[in-house]
Amino acid sequence: MSKLTRTSAYPFTGAQPPLPPSGRRTVPSQDDIVEFYRTHERVGWSLTEFLDIPWTALDIARLSPADVQVVETTMLVESNNPDYVANLIAYFAADQDVCDFIMMWGIEEWKHYYALRDYLTKVRTAIAAKEGGASDAGERERLGAIEESVRSALGDDVSAVRDASAQNWGIPAHYLPAQIVASTTVQEFVTAEFYRNHARHTREPVLARLETLLAKDETRHEMFYEQKTKDCLDADPELMPMVIDSLKEFGMPGAYLLDDYGARREAMEQAAFPTLADKKHAFVRLFSKMTRVIGRDNAMRVFTEGNYLSDGVDNPSGKKMKPELITRLLTRRLG
Ligand SMILES: [Fe+2]
Ligand SMILES: [Fe+2]
Repeated sequence: MSKLTRTSAYPFTGAQPPLPPSGRRTVPSQDDIVEFYRTHERVGWSLTEFLDIPWTALDIARLSPADVQVVETTMLVESNNPDYVANLIAYFAADQDVCDFIMMWGIEEWKHYYALRDYLTKVRTAIAAKEGGASDAGERERLGAIEESVRSALGDDVSAVRDASAQNWGIPAHYLPAQIVASTTVQEFVTAEFYRNHARHTREPVLARLETLLAKDETRHEMFYEQKTKDCLDADPELMPMVIDSLKEFGMPGAYLLDDYGARREAMEQAAFPTLADKKHAFVRLFSKMTRVIGRDNAMRVFTEGNYLSDGVDNPSGKKMKPELITRLLTRRLG
């Protein structure tokens, strides 16, 4: 992958006055934090177990080129975890409870990054080994050198993502707390749906097992953020128009971090949602999630007025979704 240089300007709503740090709070609840920690302990999985799987145990014959691209793209987006954590902790500095959550969340996202990066290193090493053939001492040395160069190349890619993130990590500084947690709810939801569905389609068992675990973590993340969004809206219903604005311009983090994200997004959608029925089902689930957070009429506005199909970019040539199409998708039996 080339060195990344993200310079695109994104049309975030910018009419809100800057907030003082004391205004950057959600609705505190220590119970929510303890509840999240309980599930963290109860359903936590072992990263060590994945790191200890030798590359020879991966069934790379069952791995498609699309699977490898999925792992690479998700690994790069997950690798930006230190910036997400740093930005969110700085933003929510006055909100102790959310900061406590972000630290636990950061550990989980870090595990995702390391597990995916380790998996990708093994896959690339296994592919090179397969091409090489023999297994004598010279071959072992060659494989060691290959593994080292794979690690180094991945390190360069990860650094490039961090550079891009310094310019735009996906959420603008002027967002209100309710807009941040609403946007993050959708981002975590889409990520969970993606991992869960791709796990069903990949034929490589270790990757399927890993993605199933990642999906469970992402679901817990989106549930936490959804609750925070609801708490903010319950406390101040007048925030709803601004929350709708932020959801209308929602884009996945990869759109801000990877210069070839358009092609990657298309390939990933195809890998996780290959049939028309899969795609319809994915939309229905996303619409239902949006409805649970902001209500059905507002969800309709997000999808018909927003830039959901173009990752937040105002694309005049791109088609917006028509209400009739959404109603049809929601009511017609999925074939
Ligand atoms: Fe993650
Ligand atoms: Fe997550």
